[in-house]
Amino acid sequence: MKRSSIAGQERFIFLVLFVLGVFTVVGQTSQTALQKDISEKVTALLLKMTLEEKIGQMNQYNGFYNVTGPAPKDGDAARKYDLLRKGYVGSMLNVRGVENVRAVQKIAVEESRLGIPLIIGFDVIHGYKTIAPIPLAEAASWDMDAIQKSSEIAAAEAAASGINWTFAPMVDISRDARWGRVMEGAGEDPFLGSDIAAARVRGFQGDDLSDPLTIAACAKHWAAYGFAEAGRDYNRSDVGTSTLFNVVFPPFQAAKEAGVKTFMNSFNTLNGIPATGDQFLQREILKDKWGFDGFVVSDWGSIREMIAHGFAKDGKEAARKAVIAGSDMDMESDLYVTKLAMLVQEGKVDESLITDAARRILTVKYELGLFDDPYRYCDETREKEIIYKEEYQDVVLDMARKSIVLLKNENNLLPLKKSGQKIALIGALAADKSSPLGGWRIASDDGTAVSVKEGMEAYTGNSLMYAKGADVVIGDATFIRELTINETDTTAFAKAVFTAKNADVVVMVLGEHGYMSGEGRSRAQLDLPGVQQELLEAVYAVNKNIVLVLNNGRPLAIDWAAEHIPSIVEGWQLGSQAGNAIAEVLYGDYNPSGKLPMSFPRSVGQVPIYYNHKSTGRPEDAGDNLVFWSHYGDESNDPLYVFGHGLSYTTFGYDTLKVEANENGANVTVWVSNGGDVTGKEVVQLYIQDPFASVTRPVRELKGYELITLEPNERKKITFKLTGKELGFYDNQGNWLVEPGDYNIFVGSSSATKLKGSFVLAE
Ligand code: BGC
Repeated sequence: MKRSSIAGQERFIFLVLFVLGVFTVVGQTSQTALQKDISEKVTALLLKMTLEEKIGQMNQYNGFYNVTGPAPKDGDAARKYDLLRKGYVGSMLNVRGVENVRAVQKIAVEESRLGIPLIIGFDVIHGYKTIAPIPLAEAASWDMDAIQKSSEIAAAEAAASGINWTFAPMVDISRDARWGRVMEGAGEDPFLGSDIAAARVRGFQGDDLSDPLTIAACAKHWAAYGFAEAGRDYNRSDVGTSTLFNVVFPPFQAAKEAGVKTFMNSFNTLNGIPATGDQFLQREILKDKWGFDGFVVSDWGSIREMIAHGFAKDGKEAARKAVIAGSDMDMESDLYVTKLAMLVQEGKVDESLITDAARRILTVKYELGLFDDPYRYCDETREKEIIYKEEYQDVVLDMARKSIVLLKNENNLLPLKKSGQKIALIGALAADKSSPLGGWRIASDDGTAVSVKEGMEAYTGNSLMYAKGADVVIGDATFIRELTINETDTTAFAKAVFTAKNADVVVMVLGEHGYMSGEGRSRAQLDLPGVQQELLEAVYAVNKNIVLVLNNGRPLAIDWAAEHIPSIVEGWQLGSQAGNAIAEVLYGDYNPSGKLPMSFPRSVGQVPIYYNHKSTGRPEDAGDNLVFWSHYGDESNDPLYVFGHGLSYTTFGYDTLKVEANENGANVTVWVSNGGDVTGKEVVQLYIQDPFASVTRPVRELKGYELITLEPNERKKITFKLTGKELGFYDNQGNWLVEPGDYNIFVGSSSATKLKGSFVLAE
C-alpha cells in the first residue's frame, strides 16, 4: 500500500516536473524566437536608416512645447519640433498624459520618413499619481514582495498615462545622509540594495514588457553618484576599487540580472573621469563583462557637463568621448544630434558605434511593443480607469505601514490607548498634506496625502488637540526653488506649549519638509531644521510624555531627542496614505516591523558612517585611556541608531545559534521566539565577517535576512545557507575570490547583534 502510494506520488511529482520543464523549455524557446525576430527586424530597419536617422534615435529631448496647442513661437522649440518631424528625435521625457504623448508620438510616427515611434521617459520614482513611500522608506520594510508591488502599480499608472520608460530604480548606495538623494535609494547596504534593485525592476517591467501596464526600467546612476564628496550633490567621487567592486557595483549588477532594459550614467566624475565619458564603466564592465544588451542614457545634460568637468574642450569633443565610452542616448545636451554626423564624416567616430547604439534603442522599442502599436500606451479609457484607482491606495497604505521604524519606546508609551486620553498633536508637518508625498513626485497632486492629523482623527475615542507650534518652511515650497527654512518665527510656540501642558500624551510630528531631500537638496546640518528643536525642548519642559514622529527623507542626527524623548517613530515621507499608516502604528493596529536601511549618526561630523566599514590597525581603546586609537575626542564612534535597527510592540528572543560547516560553506540555524503578548513581525538578520583575507573585509556584512511573523510565545527555527556566493568578494582587479579559512557569523535583530558563531571554510 505504502509503496505504491509513494510510487504514485513519485509519478505525480515526475509529471509535474515534466510539465513544468516543458513549459519552461517552451517559454524559453518562444522567448528566444521573439528575440531573434526582434533582432532581425532591427537589422532590417537599420539598413534603411541614414546616419542622421540613426543618430536621431540617440537624441532625447525634454517636452519642448505644448504639443496640443498652437505651433511654438520660441525658436529652440520650433527647431526641436522640426527635428522630431525629420526623425532626429528618438525619445522624449517629461511629456505625460495620453493626450500629450499621443500628440508627439503622432508627429514621430506619421510625419517622419520612417515613422519610428518615440520611447517616452519619466521619473516614476515612488509612484506616479498615487504616491508610495519614498524609496529609502520602502527599503526599511525589507519586504521584497511589497516593494515589487509598489513599483508595479507605479508602472501601471504611468503606463496608463502614456509613459513607457521610468528613470528608476536609483540603485546608488550611499553612506552620506547629507546627500539629498539618499531618499531615492535603498540605503547603505549592497546586499539589501541588490535585492531591492531586482524587486523594483521586476515590479516595473513585469514578465512581459509589451504589456501596456508595464514600462522599461532604468538602473541609475552608473556609477558612484552616491559617493559625492562631502555629500554635496554633483560633486566628484573618488572611490577605491575594493569599494567600487563590492559596494557600488552589486546593486547595478542585480538590476542587470533582473533584466533591466536601460542604465543611466551619472553626473559625477569617478576617480577623475566623468562617468558619462568613462569607457571602463560603460564598455568594459557593463557591456563587455556583464553583457548588458540594453542601452545607456546620459543623465540630464551630462555629456555637455564634461566640458565644465574639464574633460572635454567643447561640445564636439564631449560628444565624441561620450559615444566612444558607450553612452547611447543623449538626454538634453543636444550634442549627439548636432555633432555626431560630423565626427563620423571626419573619421573621428566609427559609424559602427552609432549603429550599435541605435540597435540597442530600437530593440527596447520593439520589446515595448511600440512598433506593433505606437499608441499602445495611449488609451484615454484606460487612463481614466487606472489613475488613482481605489485599490492602489491599499497597496501604498500597506507599503507605508511596513516602512515605519520604531526607533525607541520607553515605558511602553506606545501604542496609545484608544480612549479616555487627551492627546496634543503638535507640529506643522502633522497637518501637512503635501510634505508626506516627499520629493521626486513630479506628476503627483499637491495636498493629496492623508496627514497625520487626519489619520489620528479617525480614532475618535480620545480628544485630539492640534497646535502647529512652528512652520518648517516659510512661503511656497517648490521642487526647483531653494526653500526658506523658518529659523526665527516662534510666535506659535505658546499655544503649542499650552496645549501640551493640558494633555496626557503629546504626539509631535517634526522633521524635514518633503522638498528638503532629493536632487540638489544636500544639507550640511542633519538636525531638526529651523526652530523645531527649540519647540521640542519647550514642549518637553511642560510634558515629558512625548511621542516624536519623524518625517524626513534622510537619517537625522537627533541625539538630544534620542536621550530625552521616550518614544520615537521614524515616519519618513510615506506617500498618499502616510497619515493613516502612522495613526495605525501609534494606536497599535499595526505592529511596526521596519528596520533602518541606513545608520543614523549622532552628529554630522561622523558622516560618512555605515555599519559595514573596514577595521583599522587601532580599532579599540586599549583600556588605559590613551589617545592613540581610531576615534573622536568629542564624539563616540558608534551611530545613534545602527543599520538594521527597529523595535516592535513585542520582543523577540534569539537562541541556539548553530553553525555547521560543509564543503561549500555553512548551514546556520537559529531559534527566534516572540516573548511578548502581541503578534509581531521580525526581520531576522545574518551578518558575516571574514576576519583575515587577501584584501581586508568589512567588520560585518549582511548576507541573509528573513521576514517572519510570530504569534505570542511562538518559536521558529530559521535556516540560512551560506555558499561561495555569500562568502566571496571581489579583489582590487575585480576578480571574484572565495577564500578558505575562518568566518564569523552574527545573527539577530540588527547589525549590532552580539549573538555570534564561527566556522572554517576548508581548502
Ligand atoms: C537626474 C536623473 C533624472 C533626470 C531626468 C536628472 O537631473 O539626475 O535622475 O532621471 O534628471 O529627470
